[in-house]
Amino acid sequence: VTREPNPDAPSAPRVPQVRVWLTPEGDRPVRKGHPWVYASNVARTSEQPAESGLAVVWHSDRRFAALGLWDARSPLPVRILVAGEQAVIDDAWVRSRLDAALAIRTSAFGDDTTGYRLVYGESDGLPGLVIDRYGATVVVKVYTVAWQHWLDAIVDWCAALPGVANVVFRCARNVAQHPGTLPADGDVVRGVLEPGTRVPFSEDGLVFQCDPCRGQKTGFFLDQRDNRRRVGALSRGARVLNVFAYSGGFSLHAARGGARSVVSLDLSRPALAEAEANFALNAGHPEVSACAHETVAGDAFELLPGYARSGEVFDVVVIDPPAFAKESAHVERALAAYQRLTRMGAVLVREGGWLVMASCSSRVGGEAFEAAVLRAVEQSGRAVLTSERTGHPVDHPVQFEGAAYLKCLFLRLGGRSDRRR
Ligand SMILES: C[S@@+](CC[C@H](N)C(=O)[O-])C[C@H]1O[C@@H](n2cnc3c(N)ncnc32)[C@H](O)[C@@H]1O
Repeated sequence: VTREPNPDAPSAPRVPQVRVWLTPEGDRPVRKGHPWVYASNVARTSEQPAESGLAVVWHSDRRFAALGLWDARSPLPVRILVAGEQAVIDDAWVRSRLDAALAIRTSAFGDDTTGYRLVYGESDGLPGLVIDRYGATVVVKVYTVAWQHWLDAIVDWCAALPGVANVVFRCARNVAQHPGTLPADGDVVRGVLEPGTRVPFSEDGLVFQCDPCRGQKTGFFLDQRDNRRRVGALSRGARVLNVFAYSGGFSLHAARGGARSVVSLDLSRPALAEAEANFALNAGHPEVSACAHETVAGDAFELLPGYARSGEVFDVVVIDPPAFAKESAHVERALAAYQRLTRMGAVLVREGGWLVMASCSSRVGGEAFEAAVLRAVEQSGRAVLTSERTGHPVDHPVQFEGAAYLKCLFLRLGGRSDRRR
């Protein structure tokens, strides 16, 4: 039986500690290294537990299990930091995990990509913490109030990175409701950024800007970098339709790849204004300035059938919708929505062209997504000539099942006659 951490250790006392005993059902996932403990797997806690702090977790047989973040109000009250061994979870410990995460990124990105994820939560051993870098601006986003006890150390570490001028704090909705001593969502905690300021960064040599304080996620969808590059490589001379375009990430890669024309479609007018601004920033690329870029604001589900009715066809159709299934109860509904979009998109692809379908719903598995999309292509009467599934880029490593949310299918479509062969 391992000893409990010494609460009088020099660096530990300011963090409230909460003792947590697992149910027998809760033992197994922790023993297998899973980083989450659901509320239903907590048998009991010490009396009057703090709202947040360090969880000292015990198996149902009273053996020491793990140290984790404690968040009394969360459906995941414990997120495991260290399992099966003791550690002092102080600022130095957090910094060592941040350093390890940084090492992976610095060897992956050069000057042409200054927008990337520095820390991807559980997969970097820092559960519920995301840190994204946009050039001179770093965004720290927390998904649990428990990080308030180490936040100063995290922000100091970010601010000390070479070339960093600003650090912005973001938090998930559940955290904003019960902030504790945390800053407000969108607060600039180091440096100066006036409200609404866009910060520049590059991705594969293209320049983008985003609003780190108010933009979706932390300002940009960094996770699609590799898929955007790939769309760029398919776009020479192409007519491209980018559905759920946000600030035009896929659109710009297509344009730089030599697309003749690109349509960026999104429900959000502000996002499309960002897409136009991003095109303007890259006008120095001859391919971008030669590409006819059009933005269309509206609901994809309503607008796509209109393109089919007017007989439009595209060489590349990209469909990257928001997460449809945030709970497991919504998986079937999400799959049906992916199928509807696939059918609507497939009929717009010229013979031999590409349909690129993405899903960021973590509840929808890769196999289920692929099967649903392929079935929907078949229902639309088109043949699949080639099919390839891609996943996460290097700065979004997948270290446990729950981390693998992004799936993307690159499908080259044949005509109706190809199906009969
Ligand atoms: C996952 S993001 C797309 C990210 C984008 N492909 C990129 O690479 O940056 C989803 C986008 O869908 C938009 N959206 C949500 N519902 C929509 C709808 N019904 N029709 C069109 N766009 C929608 C959101 O505004 C958001 O920009």
